[in-house]
Amino acid sequence: MDTARATSFGAWADEYDDWRPTYPDAAVDWLVPPDGAQVAEIGAGTGKLTDRLIERGLELDVVEPDGRMLGIISQRHPRLRTHETRATSLPLGDASVDAVVVADAWHWFPKKEAAAEVARVLRPNGWLGCVWNVPVLQHDWEWQALRLEPALELPGDLDPLDRLGLSTGLAEQRAFRWTWTLTPQQWRGFVSTVSHVRLLPEDECQAALDETERLVARACAAAGATTAPLTHDALCVRWYPAT
Ligand SMILES: C[S@@+](CC[C@H](N)C(=O)[O-])C[C@H]1O[C@@H](n2cnc3c(N)ncnc32)[C@H](O)[C@@H]1O
Repeated sequence: MDTARATSFGAWADEYDDWRPTYPDAAVDWLVPPDGAQVAEIGAGTGKLTDRLIERGLELDVVEPDGRMLGIISQRHPRLRTHETRATSLPLGDASVDAVVVADAWHWFPKKEAAAEVARVLRPNGWLGCVWNVPVLQHDWEWQALRLEPALELPGDLDPLDRLGLSTGLAEQRAFRWTWTLTPQQWRGFVSTVSHVRLLPEDECQAALDETERLVARACAAAGATTAPLTHDALCVRWYPAT
């Protein structure tokens, strides 16, 4: 885990909130318990999943170490219980929540310590639900537009425990495919929020984003369209700590 990258998002919190996608309903349905349950969200960022949890009427505690990200959630939901802290020091009692959820963030946490904290706060039969929006790329230009290498892609059939980087407990996983339709400028905005692009030196970052926009504009022109689809799998894992 790269700590500088893990904590880099707050410096562009507004853009992150403008351009990052949310998570599809089917994935959220699979990850969280029914209305009224007590849930903690960790690494909540600017609230892309938080908004979905609030809509479901869950009793929520939101944990996020970066005050700039958390501030955006608090602006939208001033009465929400928020905690500016890390996954490794949850401000929650033992056996106090029905589920802990994490969106596009578990990979940034020190996993063994975070899992111990999650296990401490979960009630019996409770679970950790993690989701990642993973791009499903079919064309070379898409890989280039996202500055990703097919060779570095994680295998789709990874064991769910391995995906979490854990060796204890039980885990299960499901993928929920969805498609986002974006203009070249919107692709640019999204790519500007991924840390491997955003943390390039400024001139390289702008050149990469210019190239993204150019590639997507060319694909749109070839298809006679003003937008190009970006397919994702919302990859979900539920983990039950060993008793
Ligand atoms: C890619 S963002 C995901 C934010 C949000 N969950 C979403 O779905 O858009 C990763 C988030 O994890 C947070 N984070 C990084 N390290 C953390 C840690 N050790 N404990 C809790 N959160 C952490 C970052 O501050 C950032 O907000």
